[in-house]
Amino acid sequence: MTDKTHIESVGQSAKTLIACGDDFALMKQAVDELYRVFSGITGVRVDQLGADKDIMLPSGKAISTAAAAHCLLEMKRTAVFLRGIDKAIRQQLSANPQKTLHLLYAGTGPYGTLIIPLLLLYKPQELIVDLLDINSVSLVALQKVIDTLALNDYIGEVYCTDATRFIIPRHYDIAISETMLACLKSEPQVAIMQNLIPQLAEDCIFIPEEISIDACLTNPKMEMERLLYYENESPPFERRLLGNVFVISKHKLDDIKSRKTFSIPDDAIVFPVLNLFTTVKVFDNEILTDNDSSITLPKRFYDFRRQSANEVVFWYVQGEKPRIESGIVQPTF
Ligand SMILES: C[S@@+](CC[C@H](N)C(=O)[O-])C[C@H]1O[C@@H](n2cnc3c(N)ncnc32)[C@H](O)[C@@H]1O
Repeated sequence: MTDKTHIESVGQSAKTLIACGDDFALMKQAVDELYRVFSGITGVRVDQLGADKDIMLPSGKAISTAAAAHCLLEMKRTAVFLRGIDKAIRQQLSANPQKTLHLLYAGTGPYGTLIIPLLLLYKPQELIVDLLDINSVSLVALQKVIDTLALNDYIGEVYCTDATRFIIPRHYDIAISETMLACLKSEPQVAIMQNLIPQLAEDCIFIPEEISIDACLTNPKMEMERLLYYENESPPFERRLLGNVFVISKHKLDDIKSRKTFSIPDDAIVFPVLNLFTTVKVFDNEILTDNDSSITLPKRFYDFRRQSANEVVFWYVQGEKPRIESGIVQPTF
């Protein structure tokens, strides 16, 4: 049954998340309100984590309904994705006035977090979304959200299928998929991009636009102090960039297949910890960097106080457990 209060509240939360900048109090309020409404409508709550099952695919793990619901609460991730997607919609609408945009959202979860709140800011004549998830429980929940918020006019097809094998049936103006963890571990983001992007037209915007992973040598004390102090009071902070490990985007789908080797400079004495940093460029200047969210958390690979190395090599492994693997070449004394 349609609920006007819910519609107003979700629309207002979407506006707040787009406009609140780095006001984390407002951001949290808006995300909490979305969670209150969506969990109330669907009965899917984050405290059910563990009660439902992940789906293991040949290309990685599709996280369970409750785990996918939990993504909403990562407030900066949700805010930055909504802002990026909103910008992409506006850009495509202004490039194609009079046209109804067609969007594909692959990996919706039970709340359709990255598109449902935005729909209330547009007219159904402006955009139609096809929804896709491998998890039928999530799609049943999402249909309840759509019905309650009276959004059926914005919804095209609903596919319960594997996005890594999905054959794209039509032209899309925007395709969205956030099925990742930091360092592109576990979940099938890469396989989904490798399947969908070559099927999309050149004018289609894929979101996220780019995911890149950089190798940096870090100083643990500096890293800690950076988190403890306000930006303008922070003691000097530096990292040593070794280079880009992988980047994946519409125009760079194959970089992930290569091995990347980095020499370890003498600075490793002052910057002894090798971390990989994931950066997600959602769209335009809407970017998530280290510590903004779980999908961009730095991952420690080596501590050169414990073992020394001349070179480090990284490669990406695809399959049921996608991950970055690495090895070192040790000095010969
Ligand atoms: C990390 S959750 C994200 C949920 C929501 N899009 C958000 O950002 O809050 C990923 C979702 O993608 C779905 N998924 C993962 N791999 C998939 C695949 N290969 N095909 C279809 N859906 C997939 C999962 O079932 C889950 O609902």
